[in-house]
Amino acid sequence: MFLWGTATASYQIEGAVAEDGRGPSIWDTFAHEPGRIRDGHTGDVACDHYNRWSEDVTLMGSLGVNSYRFSISWPRIQPEGRGKPNEAGLAFYDRLVDELCAKDIVPAATIFHWDLPQALEDRGGWLNRDTSHHLADYAGILAERLGDRVPMWITLNEPFIHMVFGYALGTHAPGRTLFLDALPAAHHQLLGHGLAAQALRAHGAERVLITNNCTPVWPASGSAEDHRAAEAYDTLHNRLFNDPLLLGKYPDLSAYGVSTLDVVRDGDLEVIAQPLDGLGINYYNPTRIAAPAPGPDSAPLPFEDAGVSGYPTTAFGWPVVPDGLRELLLGLRARYGDALPPVYVTENGCSLADEPGQDGAVDDQARIAFLDGHIGAIRAAIAEGVDVRGYYVWSLMDNFEWAEGFNQRFGLVHVDFATQKRTPKASYHWLRERIATHPLP
Ligand code: FCB
Repeated sequence: MFLWGTATASYQIEGAVAEDGRGPSIWDTFAHEPGRIRDGHTGDVACDHYNRWSEDVTLMGSLGVNSYRFSISWPRIQPEGRGKPNEAGLAFYDRLVDELCAKDIVPAATIFHWDLPQALEDRGGWLNRDTSHHLADYAGILAERLGDRVPMWITLNEPFIHMVFGYALGTHAPGRTLFLDALPAAHHQLLGHGLAAQALRAHGAERVLITNNCTPVWPASGSAEDHRAAEAYDTLHNRLFNDPLLLGKYPDLSAYGVSTLDVVRDGDLEVIAQPLDGLGINYYNPTRIAAPAPGPDSAPLPFEDAGVSGYPTTAFGWPVVPDGLRELLLGLRARYGDALPPVYVTENGCSLADEPGQDGAVDDQARIAFLDGHIGAIRAAIAEGVDVRGYYVWSLMDNFEWAEGFNQRFGLVHVDFATQKRTPKASYHWLRERIATHPLP
């Protein structure tokens, strides 16, 4: 059965940050620091999903999706990131999962979507190898409680984005600016994935996945320099995270002046590369890369983002290139061959400046065109031999878009953040029709 779903993440929708014993996460800390988030927004209330979850599941039921990808808030389960679980936190996800099952919506639970308990960050966060082991303990708690009803587990969401924005550039929590010294955060997240996968399987988990953010990389020109730069970027964005999982080794990082990752210990790669039941892919847009301009200050990185032009753009300014998804899927198949497990597109969507018109309706025709194009790209990739088994739209509803606050609306459902009123957009009605009438294999 092809899985049609919507995706969300805990900190982006739940709110209720101090309810029922939840501890602080790095996103609570970060969002409350002046100047971090556009317009000073925070996820304190967000979509108040913690209290309105039942209404939100009803919306999914009416949409006709057969799966829902949500993430579990680690600090609700373990307020300090370690030790005894918080019963009220587990009970929340218990209720949510029961309601999904009652509506025949397959729960796909992401274990970590960036909201690390602050207490673990205080001990070094993902720069500390212990965090990988804590993730595995937490995964075991979840599998024990929810594993009888959750068939699909996604250990991590986009470790690349978390490493780069959170640890290298500091535009996301925890706001560290370590540049290339952030690389240990890649290895410790991947190791955490492997250890969590073992813990999940020890509790009989049915399907274990990880979700990587992937982008097709286009050289800005035919020059050898631009090709080399594109290859270096591809290594960092795509291969650094896919190669160890699928091939059991790290790619050559010499373009970054790195010969070995010295945090890697004997046996780690075997843990990371254990077989996956699926690879989650989040696709938003391709990336065009040029060689860094030569100059007196030698560039710190071996590439430069040259920008993609000539395509429509989203409110975020991201280029809309549906065929990039087909290119990406075929590229993965070409690169990894039989080592590529079934693929699930666990996020894809666009932000638009959606507001209700005078009649109260939200007419997001550009989102309909976006989804139509990307679903077409998946259909084409399947026809060309890629085993794609699911498609999750980011996102069910408008929510807290990290550093952008509530300024980027990605939802199929509009949220009025002053009143919490939910209004399904035109794209929601369109998708319901599409799912009902155009099944994918
Ligand atoms: C992805 C994140 C998700 C959302 C979308 C727009 O990188 O996983 O939480 O913010 O981008």
